[in-house]
Amino acid sequence: MRSFVWHPYTQMNDWEKFDVISKGKGMWLYDKQGNALMDGVASMWCNVWGHSNKELTDSIIKQTKNLQHSSLFNLTNDKAEDLAEKLVKLAPEMHRVFYSDDGSTAMEISAKMALQYWNNIGEKKTRFVSLENGYHGDTIGAMSLGYVPLFFSKFKSVLFQVLRTPTPNRYRIPKGYSFEDYQEFCLEKIEQTFSKNDDIAAFVMESGAQIAGGVVIYPKGFQKKISKMCKKHNVLLILDEIATGFGRLGSMIEYQKQESTPDIVSFGKMLSGGYLPLAATLASKKIYDSFLGEYQDMKHFFHGHTFTGNPLACATALRNISLYKKYNLISKIKKRAIQMELRIKEISSLDMVGDVRHAGMLMGIELVSDKKKKTPISPTKKLPQKIFVEAKKHGIYQRTLGPIVMLVPPLAISEKELGFLLDGTIKTIKNVSSQT
Ligand SMILES: Cc1ncc(COP(=O)(O)O)c(C=O)c1O
Repeated sequence: MRSFVWHPYTQMNDWEKFDVISKGKGMWLYDKQGNALMDGVASMWCNVWGHSNKELTDSIIKQTKNLQHSSLFNLTNDKAEDLAEKLVKLAPEMHRVFYSDDGSTAMEISAKMALQYWNNIGEKKTRFVSLENGYHGDTIGAMSLGYVPLFFSKFKSVLFQVLRTPTPNRYRIPKGYSFEDYQEFCLEKIEQTFSKNDDIAAFVMESGAQIAGGVVIYPKGFQKKISKMCKKHNVLLILDEIATGFGRLGSMIEYQKQESTPDIVSFGKMLSGGYLPLAATLASKKIYDSFLGEYQDMKHFFHGHTFTGNPLACATALRNISLYKKYNLISKIKKRAIQMELRIKEISSLDMVGDVRHAGMLMGIELVSDKKKKTPISPTKKLPQKIFVEAKKHGIYQRTLGPIVMLVPPLAISEKELGFLLDGTIKTIKNVSSQT
């Protein structure tokens, strides 16, 4: 089959062809020949209920018949209104919702909102601080905020300067530190950065865990302490819950679990159940109020997208959120998380497995070439492709993050299906280890 599609983060030379997925049902993706693959990465971490969920597709069909798109410029629509109200009720301390289409744009909006907030109140605060290896998307602003060297070094010359502080990754602590000491060190670095610079607009971090930058689950209290520090130093806290909110880490609103309070927070991915592109940036009253004034004051937010508040996506998100309650999803996730946790010992004992990091419905299995020395695997080994090919033999769609095998299934996965995913992943790692 001739293809004109250019695939993301893909060396196109390595791929003669791609499987053509033509149907999805529950946890499974089907190609044209009817071969099934379990969606082990929730179609890039966003699928909640599995594919072709009737309640979600019905709401899309119903909305499609009424209103497909209408703008939020000078107008509104009932689905965007209802969803905003629902989100503000769900997210403590949040006051208004600004819609966009994907996580990267939601983070651009977060950054612009913070910058314009300081401008609106007449303070000169223009710099950001973020955690090393944070990831906030692939647009220029989002890349600047969340610089992952492996992904973004080629664009460095055009990225804006952001101050970075270290992330407490339990598996890779610098020599001479205990994990507790290192956490303290990371927090001290933030405090020092805030103390030394009076032009910091905001601290930006993923809420609960870093995912794309290496699956680093923050130690208890880490985010809470950062939140307190931000308040103390009059620095805004921007949280990114695009990949970690809405159940992924076992909580609906992760910042609530982390006992932290953002000024601005973004959701995406699972917001629409993973069915339609939608993201939302929520702001506190303090932020929102600074944008109010006379027209000629030019305090209103200078940002907008064509599909902002798209009623189809908002209707789907509304239905998605109602299903969390109807099916008690968060407590089901907690049970599945225990099922994952019970397999950690077995996975850790595998030959190439250096570390297993897990929270809720997220597991990152870091593969290394030498377990004792924690030696990273060279990219020349083409590990991601090997894992993908091997996992397919076990009926699983896998997408690794460099040397990290990711288990990020749809949140409503059943016990049996999760067992299948765990078993297949273990077999995949064993077979790839014996070939590598
Ligand atoms: C934490 C986080 N923020 C932002 C993004 C960017 O989202 P999108 O790919 O929808 O632009 C991602 C994507 O994986 C993410 O994990």
